[in-house]
Amino acid sequence: SGQHFPHPPGRRPVVGDVLGADPAQPLQSTMRRAGGLGPIFELHVFDQKFVFVSSAELAAELADESRFQKALSPALVALREFAGAGLFTAYNDETDWALAHDLLRPAFTRDSMRGYHPIMLAAAQELFDSWDAGTGPVDVAADMTRLTMETISRTAFSHDFGSFSRAEPHPFIPAMIAALRAGQRKGSLNAMPGSALMARRIDKRNAHHQAYVDRLLDDIIAERRAEGAAKKDDLLGIMLDTPHPQTGEKLDDLNIRHQILTFLVAGHETTSGALSFALYYLSRNPALMATAHEEVDRILGPDRDAEPTFEQVPKFRYLRRVLDEGLRLWPTAPAFARSPRATTTLSTGHVMRPQDWALVMLPMVHRDPAVWGPDADEFDPDRFSPERSRGRVAHSYKPFGTGERSCIGRQFALHEAILVLARVLRRYDLTPDPGYELRITERLTLMPEGFELWLSPRR
Ligand code: HEM
Repeated sequence: SGQHFPHPPGRRPVVGDVLGADPAQPLQSTMRRAGGLGPIFELHVFDQKFVFVSSAELAAELADESRFQKALSPALVALREFAGAGLFTAYNDETDWALAHDLLRPAFTRDSMRGYHPIMLAAAQELFDSWDAGTGPVDVAADMTRLTMETISRTAFSHDFGSFSRAEPHPFIPAMIAALRAGQRKGSLNAMPGSALMARRIDKRNAHHQAYVDRLLDDIIAERRAEGAAKKDDLLGIMLDTPHPQTGEKLDDLNIRHQILTFLVAGHETTSGALSFALYYLSRNPALMATAHEEVDRILGPDRDAEPTFEQVPKFRYLRRVLDEGLRLWPTAPAFARSPRATTTLSTGHVMRPQDWALVMLPMVHRDPAVWGPDADEFDPDRFSPERSRGRVAHSYKPFGTGERSCIGRQFALHEAILVLARVLRRYDLTPDPGYELRITERLTLMPEGFELWLSPRR
């Protein structure tokens, strides 16, 4: 049954290493238990085996595309319940992956961001209007999530969820979250006794959420088809109208629904987490905030309502470093799985077979003192200055994944996050609650929990 790896003490029959794990914080509890286990270790959860990679050196080895490829971890297999063979959850050899990747790639180039730029700015303005009309502190993660959800839905399929004009989120959003959670809960049952019965119960309870989500998206697709001539060049338009340049193939309607769900899920919490961590660290470090303010004021000028142009966005070098450093400590998509293409022996001497997979634990890889030094746990954006980045070990920083299956939305996320950060910092002085200590919730992504900021207009 494959290679054995080191595991924490206290393994029990049947349940394996489950005792000592925190089901609400699987990532953080695994990080706490990893001490002394070395660069690769395992946890048994009932009869399911999880293998984790924690060193930069081994992560770099697994990034070698000639030897390894993306694997679907149990969490991603569970997500297929919801997102089918969408880009994120497709198996490498599924034809829909290659087709969708080829069709959608052009919509994610830097040049395509030019079209999304005004949409991103408009969504940000709506958030600021809602802030200006409100009183009291803002819940940073919740508001960044409203913003990134609105941005991705408007850019991807020109649909406005009206997130800023409603007191409650659009009913699609809780339905989507419930359907997602149901898939995850089913996935986590896999290895447990009595799981078939529990899975049926979850399905039954989730049916109306899933039906609501499916109907809303199918209506949007049908409506767009009916519009015919009035083509839009958003992602939905590309998926509906563009045949593959070589094969002439198009995506079918079910796959298009899965792709939309994929973009909604993959495209919003990750970016909102990145923004939230950046705001957390800046608001807690006056010296770093001063540097960020200096950059923002220099580029945007004296008007607190100035909006960055498309060309200005890449000029916010310091904001980019702040985001990079936040994603180093708290990579919001915290792990991805790799499998060997053929049976292979790792540099550690362990053997992996094609049916085996290992999760690259990004928060551990990104804090490996061999690469990041003894102060690896400290937030220091200047690590990403050109001087200090030069010569850094390849593949030691992978917040957007690796290889052919790495993040298609990287440019999109960075463009959006820099633009939003620039406007927030130009517009507001941010005051955190001095008593707040960083707590991190784990859903599919990482997010600061209960983090609030007081805003006052900045002149
Ligand atoms: C893939 C992270 C934003 C869409 C990935 C992967 C990571 C990642 C780690 C690889 C997963 C794996 O190997 O299993 C992030 C982070 C983001 C972000 C940290 C923000 C800071 C976005 C956005 C979009 C997006 C904005 C869409 C607009 C996707 C898709 C894939 C993907 C479709 C699958 C690509 C494929 O396999 O072909 N992302 N992502 N992501 N991401 Fe992102």
